[in-house]
Amino acid sequence: MEHVSPLIIRLNTLHQELAAELQAIKTIAEFEAIRNKFIGKQGSITIESKNIKDLSLEEKRTTGSIVQDIRKKVEELIEHTQQQLITRLQQEVELQKQFFDVTAYTTNALESSVHPYTRVIQDLEDITMNMGFEIIYGMELETEFANFEALNIPVDHPARESHDTFWLTLPGKLLRTHTSNVQSHMLQERKPPFAITTMGRTYRNEATDATHDYMFMQFEIMIIDTKQSLSNLIAIAQEIFRCFFKNNELKSRIRPGFFPFVEPGIEVDIQCPFCQNGCSICKRTTWIEAGGAGLVHPNVLELCGVDSTKYTACAFGFGLTRLVMLKYGINDVRLLHGCSLDFLKQF
Ligand code: DAH
Repeated sequence: MEHVSPLIIRLNTLHQELAAELQAIKTIAEFEAIRNKFIGKQGSITIESKNIKDLSLEEKRTTGSIVQDIRKKVEELIEHTQQQLITRLQQEVELQKQFFDVTAYTTNALESSVHPYTRVIQDLEDITMNMGFEIIYGMELETEFANFEALNIPVDHPARESHDTFWLTLPGKLLRTHTSNVQSHMLQERKPPFAITTMGRTYRNEATDATHDYMFMQFEIMIIDTKQSLSNLIAIAQEIFRCFFKNNELKSRIRPGFFPFVEPGIEVDIQCPFCQNGCSICKRTTWIEAGGAGLVHPNVLELCGVDSTKYTACAFGFGLTRLVMLKYGINDVRLLHGCSLDFLKQF
């Protein structure tokens, strides 16, 4: 009987093992692992084939071509299996497409919710409308005159520095830096008396962090009549905050403040709605800064064509973004106009 080299026997056994293992594969990853196990650099067939170098010259001559044959068959088997696997996987994908169930996705899978900004704006609109204010939707793209000059902030006024402005390439045009711009339009367009409120976006060219943003919202009211007083304004502001925070005992306090478009000017603080003795939100002071207010400066009335000897006006401008953050305990302003669904779904 013809002598069969042990090397060939071992290689044939490995070939059979390989064929058996390839039968069971289901994924490309499994296929790669088996290929590596047998014919990778450290694969069993690769290593076994190298043992040919230890045979005598005579044996090499007879065994060499058989080893070659076995290796060729191994390669073909691997190639063939790979092709089969790819075809099968492609067919599976096609099949899945054919049986794609359009009814599996229900319309309520993605529920919508109201943005915290919208909620607060709706609350404030309800409160101020009930008090008799008319709601005005002002302009964000504004003229230098309405945003600054008409409000007693001429070109070289230092107050312009605190309003780091986004100027447009159009001459004299800018993104409004505060909602007080609406005051100058209303004073020019309407005949007093009237009481208006406005809410919306304002822009300042500021570096962004958790408490600052280049875009934030403000909330403004103005009342003009023959007789207006600071005490009336303070009472209105206090009432608005009491309704907003649903707390009838909420106190407010005033401090002197300077704004070129009011005289006298005040800053209004509200009692922290979240604590009695100081907390992290009010920085342990029990008070929260709400914004600025005052009696509209006679220069503003005159610049807008209103007789300042006949009429007095009072106004305030408060941080709406701040109110939203306070009301919902949001500690990073950037979340408010980011598009994180995880954040938005909470409301
Ligand atoms: N516009 C001011 C600002 O953005 C806030 C302000 C202060 C508005 C006093 C007013 C006011 O109406 O009377 O800082």
